[in-house]
Amino acid sequence: MAGSLYTFCKAMSPESGESAMTNQTEPLLLDHVDMRMVAGEAGEATADRNSIVQLDPDHPGFRDEEYRARRNRIAQIALEYEPGAPVPEAPYTPEEHGVWRAVWEALAPAHQLHACAEYLVCISRLELPRERIPQMREVSERVEALSGFRLEPVAGLVEPRVFLESLANGVFLSTQYIRHHSTPLYTPEPDVVHEIVGHAVTLASERFAQLNRLVGQAVRRTSSAEALKRLARVYWFTIEFGVLREHGEVKAYGTGLLSSAGELEAMHKAELRPFDLEAASRQEYDPTQYQPVLFCADSIDAMYQRLRDFLVNWD
Ligand SMILES: [Fe+2]
Repeated sequence: MAGSLYTFCKAMSPESGESAMTNQTEPLLLDHVDMRMVAGEAGEATADRNSIVQLDPDHPGFRDEEYRARRNRIAQIALEYEPGAPVPEAPYTPEEHGVWRAVWEALAPAHQLHACAEYLVCISRLELPRERIPQMREVSERVEALSGFRLEPVAGLVEPRVFLESLANGVFLSTQYIRHHSTPLYTPEPDVVHEIVGHAVTLASERFAQLNRLVGQAVRRTSSAEALKRLARVYWFTIEFGVLREHGEVKAYGTGLLSSAGELEAMHKAELRPFDLEAASRQEYDPTQYQPVLFCADSIDAMYQRLRDFLVNWD
């Protein structure tokens, strides 16, 4: 894992000459990527929660000056943000609201087929608008009323420890920009689609919110780099890419799956392994591909209890 991830992280840095993304031929492959979970080895790209992502030359918005200017304005919101304050509005364009609608057109039917029941309940609880991108402030207020979790803006990549530890405080550090309108089903970075459709929706569940908090608390008790990597892998194979059985069918509860129609389709081709979190903590992964290995729980109750126990007992 380390080699490929390092290459990819380097590709995101301004100093990079060649991009790993040029090797991708299927754009849907990357629309789930959550670089926060893998960026730790490229320290120059991810200093703290206020780092700004430089667009790579292969980024779909690289040559769109208006998009880049808007991304900078949205990044500025995060840079000036004071934790706990209401999140200022992001300046989305009509084209970008169209991206949100296009994403929902692909995702709504995919959710009905592939999402676990708890996720579908959360979707109805939050009543997210589908015709426009909701502002982070309104989503955060709805989530906080349901589970106590809130969203706070970050400009781009943050180090895994910063991202994961904030969960202990009931804070999800969230990007606010949306992918470029030329590629509505593709983004090389976590964007507002992944943050809201994936994470914010699941955080409307008290059980998922508790699991996120427990991840943060476990990370706080973790000092070694290797142990942090193991916890990040557990987060990856559960909160990001978890699947479980419901009435004999495999359903998604992972945010990386639930925010990508392509991932939801592809998960049925993955090798399903028993829900062994010790094994998951040692399983390497490539974030630039559809996940070939997933850990499948026998039920949502089994997933919740075993993940909770694993995290509570983590030393
Ligand atoms: Fe994520």
